[in-house]
Amino acid sequence: MLWCYLLAIMHATHLTEPLRTLTLLGLESSCDDTAAAVVRAAPGQPADILSAKVAGQTELHASFGGVVPEIAARAHAEKLDLMVEAALSEAGLALEQMDAIAVTAGPGLIGGVMSGVMCAKGLALGSGKPLIGVNHLAGHALTPRLTDRLEFPYLMLLVSGGHCQFLVVRSATDFTRLGGTIDDAPGEAFDKTAKLIGLPQPGGPMIEQAALNGDPTRLKLPRPLLDRGGCDMSFSGLKTAVLRARDALVAKQGGLYKQDQSDLAASFQAAVSDVLAEKTRRALRLSQVGAIAVAGGVAANKTIRAALEQVAAETGARFLAPPLALCTDNAAMIAWAGIERLRLGLIDDMSLAARPRWPLDSTAPAMLGSGKKGAKA
Ligand code: KG4
Ligand code: ZN
Repeated sequence: MLWCYLLAIMHATHLTEPLRTLTLLGLESSCDDTAAAVVRAAPGQPADILSAKVAGQTELHASFGGVVPEIAARAHAEKLDLMVEAALSEAGLALEQMDAIAVTAGPGLIGGVMSGVMCAKGLALGSGKPLIGVNHLAGHALTPRLTDRLEFPYLMLLVSGGHCQFLVVRSATDFTRLGGTIDDAPGEAFDKTAKLIGLPQPGGPMIEQAALNGDPTRLKLPRPLLDRGGCDMSFSGLKTAVLRARDALVAKQGGLYKQDQSDLAASFQAAVSDVLAEKTRRALRLSQVGAIAVAGGVAANKTIRAALEQVAAETGARFLAPPLALCTDNAAMIAWAGIERLRLGLIDDMSLAARPRWPLDSTAPAMLGSGKKGAKA
């Protein structure tokens, strides 16, 4: 009995990283951004992003109308070393000065995730540093702690080109999904809708810009799933409704005027914003937490941001939106999530596997259809 007790204490002391300054290298390659970053965190101090490098692949995939997994994987394999070198050099540190190497081990496009995991394993083996596998969604979900030292628990709304979900974040390892999209992610809907109304990609910013001169009340678009309880969302019907509205205008006028394009953009944006706002209101009510943070490219949208801020204000909750570079895919969030895991003594070994699917909340039912555009989060 005593022996077991001693073993337990030894185990705990060994596993729990004492509160000391930690410097981690993070790698991210789960979709179409190859990123490396160095983050340092001293106990009780705001964390420092010593460097953050990202190589995007937009041009490589542009002519295909979506992310091509094989092309993405090859580009990651080519760029990872370079990003690591650049991140270490900008931080003015050597690999030997890292406390651990953190890497996105999923979810994402398997070729890219494998490239990252293999690279991180090589670096960890070569330097003798611990390896930490990070869930990409946890990276996004923990970002407000990196940027604002937000205390647990809080609500996270992740709205990007491939993902859409509400998560209650209770610790670095405790995430409860309250709901999410049952079909398209909102960014995906923005991109597809932009195509439908003749706007270039990326659709989100283009729609936002066109909407500035538009009338959000002119086209009567649905607010999908608001009639149903809970926090699940749906955006693909909205896109079809825009298609019908566009076709009706074309049939009536023989074509689309610039003003029609702006009105369609504004009406679509208003519908997405209304849905996200109402679902956020419900998620805040359900979770009973005092703060909501957003992440993902769609969180850049000013109309949506203002609507969410308004909902937060109504309920007395704090609203946090990290700077855009940390809202979208990046490696600083992976290094930070690695720091959180290392502080809990959670490290991996060389058996760390790349996981294309890896739900953060393993108790929630599987999501249908999210990430069709690629496994972005
Ligand atoms: O997070 P992100 O950079 O990549 C992932 O999907 O992970 O998000 C990109 C998505 C694209 O679908 C893009 O159209 C959308 O975010 N987006 C926006 C805005 N800026 C980017 N959507 C609405 N309004 C914006 N201003
Ligand atoms: Zn992401």
